[in-house]
Amino acid sequence: MRKKIVAGNWKMNLDYAEGMSLFSEIANMVKDEITGQQLAVICSPFIHLSSLVQLAKSYDKVAVGAQNAHQYESGAYTGEISAKMVKSTGAAYVILGHSERRQYFGEDNQLLAQKTLTALNNGLKPIFCIGETLNERESEQHFEVIKTQLEEGVFSLSTEQFEQLVLAYEPVWAIGTGKTASSEQAQEIHAFIREQIANNYTQEVADNTTILYGGSCNPKNAADLFAQPDIDGGLIGGASLKSRDFLDIVKVFN
Ligand code: 13P
Repeated sequence: MRKKIVAGNWKMNLDYAEGMSLFSEIANMVKDEITGQQLAVICSPFIHLSSLVQLAKSYDKVAVGAQNAHQYESGAYTGEISAKMVKSTGAAYVILGHSERRQYFGEDNQLLAQKTLTALNNGLKPIFCIGETLNERESEQHFEVIKTQLEEGVFSLSTEQFEQLVLAYEPVWAIGTGKTASSEQAQEIHAFIREQIANNYTQEVADNTTILYGGSCNPKNAADLFAQPDIDGGLIGGASLKSRDFLDIVKVFN
């Protein structure tokens, strides 16, 4: 059975003390709500990681992740953070390919393929994000865009490597806009993603891949979204900054 995950992406929010306090609050609230194959992951800014990993040791269903890592192992790249550094904090996950990285930092599929490989080589589990822009959806290119993002970003991985990934479908037009994809729209793309995985790997690999939905996911719409057969949880931005909202989304699993 594939893992069900609710992951919070804090983005560039919360100073150190605020991060510590929100994490403790969230971990305490969700710990009794998460069972079996379910997991909560908090993806924080780099500066919080090692302390959050220490806090997370008391909660076996709450994991910690970063929001980015560099494509090279090390070197003269002032200000950058390597996958090995992230791993050395004890963090298990790293978000790669987020649309904000694609849009504001010029990260393309080729670069993301490199980042994914480096993250995997350092023992991190990438949460690999894909999704179309509003223009691409309105011109009915969304399936093609998703297919290309998968093919160029992750489909050259070996089966063994691919099995370490979590995928997240985040339609760009739904991120931070309050405009969620309908559960039918999301399910349609999630089923398409799973079909592409089956075509490139095997049906079994596809069936075991966790595919999250992200984009204005909140306690009100999570139940509908998570009830879809190919939606295995959420990647939550704004609502992950409020412990009550995050808890209510996690509760949807039950
Ligand atoms: P919002 O939930 O704020 O729309 O953000 C989604 C997201 O980008 C998660 O990675």
